[in-house]
Amino acid sequence: MSHSKAIHNRIADGGYAAWLSYPSLPSGRLQDQYVKWCGAVQATDEDDTVQAALREWQRGIESMLGIQAVKVREQAPTGLSVVFGTFQGGNPLIGSVFGEETVRIVGPEGFAIRTSQEQGCIAIGAVSPAGVLYGVFHLLRLIGNLEEIEGLDEVIIPVNGLRMINHWDNFDGSVERGYAGRSFFYDNNHFTNDVERIRDYARLMSSAGINAIAINNVNVHALETLFISKYLPEVASIADQFRVYGIKLFLSVNFAGPMHEGEVCTADPLDLGVRKWWQDTAAGVYAAIPDFGGFVVKADSENRPGPFTYGRDHADGANMLAEALEPFGGIVIWRCFVYNCKQDWRDRKTDRARAAYDHFKPLDGKFKDNVILQIKNGPMDFQVREPVSPLFGALERTNQVIEFQIAQEYTGQQRHVCYLVPQWKEVLEFNTYAQGAASPVKHIVDGSLWGNRHSGIAAVSNVGNDRNWTGHLLAQANLYGYGRLAWNPELTAEEIASEWISLTFGTDPDVSSVVSRILLDSLEIYESYTAPLGVGWMINPEHHYGPNVDGYEYSQWGTYHYADHQGIGVDRTVKTGTGYSAQYIGLNSERYDSLETCPDELLLFFHHVPYTHVLHSGKTVIQHIYDTHFEGAERAAELLASWSSLKGTVREDLYMQVEERLRGQASHAKEWRDQISTYFYRKSGIEDTGKRTIY
Ligand code: GCU
Repeated sequence: MSHSKAIHNRIADGGYAAWLSYPSLPSGRLQDQYVKWCGAVQATDEDDTVQAALREWQRGIESMLGIQAVKVREQAPTGLSVVFGTFQGGNPLIGSVFGEETVRIVGPEGFAIRTSQEQGCIAIGAVSPAGVLYGVFHLLRLIGNLEEIEGLDEVIIPVNGLRMINHWDNFDGSVERGYAGRSFFYDNNHFTNDVERIRDYARLMSSAGINAIAINNVNVHALETLFISKYLPEVASIADQFRVYGIKLFLSVNFAGPMHEGEVCTADPLDLGVRKWWQDTAAGVYAAIPDFGGFVVKADSENRPGPFTYGRDHADGANMLAEALEPFGGIVIWRCFVYNCKQDWRDRKTDRARAAYDHFKPLDGKFKDNVILQIKNGPMDFQVREPVSPLFGALERTNQVIEFQIAQEYTGQQRHVCYLVPQWKEVLEFNTYAQGAASPVKHIVDGSLWGNRHSGIAAVSNVGNDRNWTGHLLAQANLYGYGRLAWNPELTAEEIASEWISLTFGTDPDVSSVVSRILLDSLEIYESYTAPLGVGWMINPEHHYGPNVDGYEYSQWGTYHYADHQGIGVDRTVKTGTGYSAQYIGLNSERYDSLETCPDELLLFFHHVPYTHVLHSGKTVIQHIYDTHFEGAERAAELLASWSSLKGTVREDLYMQVEERLRGQASHAKEWRDQISTYFYRKSGIEDTGKRTIY
């Protein structure tokens, strides 16, 4: 393919290159600066990862600057160059640019970057090849965002150890809660072996900072139990692709695996035959994939098998697997999304929100050192608004990671734009009061509050085989943003949005300001026309898309929100409700428990109130519902109008796909507005003071 054809294809690629599309940069002072430094590159390590970094560098430079980054063996006496490699990789320039102190503090995944005028180079040095790769992506990102590169001098280390993506991909090719086509790992109970796509995926993930990926659904069906045995060669070839990009592969396993394969007739974690089965299985996995990450487990939840069947607890279950993985350095990621979906809550005391804490708090300190508990960000299930899980702060002697959902299951399913980074930031900043006044979730999940051996962040993926990976192009910002936030939770939602916009669309300030506004407003807009005041759901059961006020799949016991003609909301207070509010520590517990201090946005999560209850905002609950739904639908329509202002500025292939989604969202927001407003008007009989038409 000719050079110009290749560039053209990359440009009209429907969003495939995503934030690695390297749009060409405007001419001017900064471009001159980049051209001056980037014409020559030294990367002497033979390692596959460093060589991948070199290819990435050359590709990025050519695309952004229109010049070749020529590989040189040593510094030309008069020239400038970019040089990268490991400290031990033998390039004398790296050795002379970075002092011993830098080498000491960089850590296994960090990197140092420095512009040395004396040595005439921009050097990136790291302990590991993955660190070098992260450094190269960093420098490419700086250039793509028109940052100065002449005075660089930093050591950059990821804040969170584990930065993980969980795929919910099934072997048949479907993706549970997938909104971007089908799996690119599997199709019709075969591995796709789509090496190019998997490699590009690994590039994207690594450039955002991801270092671990579980490639199959937490709901492990019959054939997928064989991923740890029969299908190991195919799994290993995916691990080979990931390894080059510093990513460890994990597998979700079925707790009843030994029984599925017919060799043992129980899955009791204390049974010696079962323990041996897992030990042998782990040995087989490591023989095929020496750097295998470990197992992800969903047990005793939504009909999955687990230790409860045998009268054992979750520490018994997790420790059994941990023992099997321990000799190989593997870890068990055990999910805390454990609740009884068949429970009868008509007593108004039984409460699904309590479940994770009730199950796992008593087990604190009982897990082996290579077990990590994976806790969903909220007590329910990735709603647009719910409080932070009270398990954060409750487990002082247990490794833990937080679980977010990048897939927009309850936030518009990638048909509506909903930039989730602000929500994740709010969760990470939440003060748990677990150890004094400043104990935010981010310091629990980065391991610093309790000094955990393992810690970090995991999230459910939002990708599929759609050309642009995420269905809605703007949902790429969530994937990118998740990785960046996992790397450094101090980045702001604005900074992340702005990076993503430049890397995707280029550096035109008009595009940046319009797209940034759309992204940053989108969560608030989505929340305003969907379930109000933290009450959650109100979506159609099963597929979870679109308005249905009483919709909740486990609704055989009535409506979960208890709406009647007088009021709405779930009483989770200590005196009269489920007592859930007491799972929080100190001030949080008091604040949520009291009607006076409970924040408006969570009112209906914690309290049952009459429609005439007056919020802190001064509005009644019913008027709030009407106003937010009418305003929300209007603002959704404005998103489309704002995007339309970019017609002719943004690349046509990208422009069109977003326009189509925003058009759908604007009309769908009206449906939400009408269904929710009508339901509550009929239920309460209270008129809208704004006198808008409600049927
Ligand atoms: C939600 C989701 C399920 C998923 C589950 C989980 O309930 O709807 O599809 O299996 O979460 O996190 O395990």
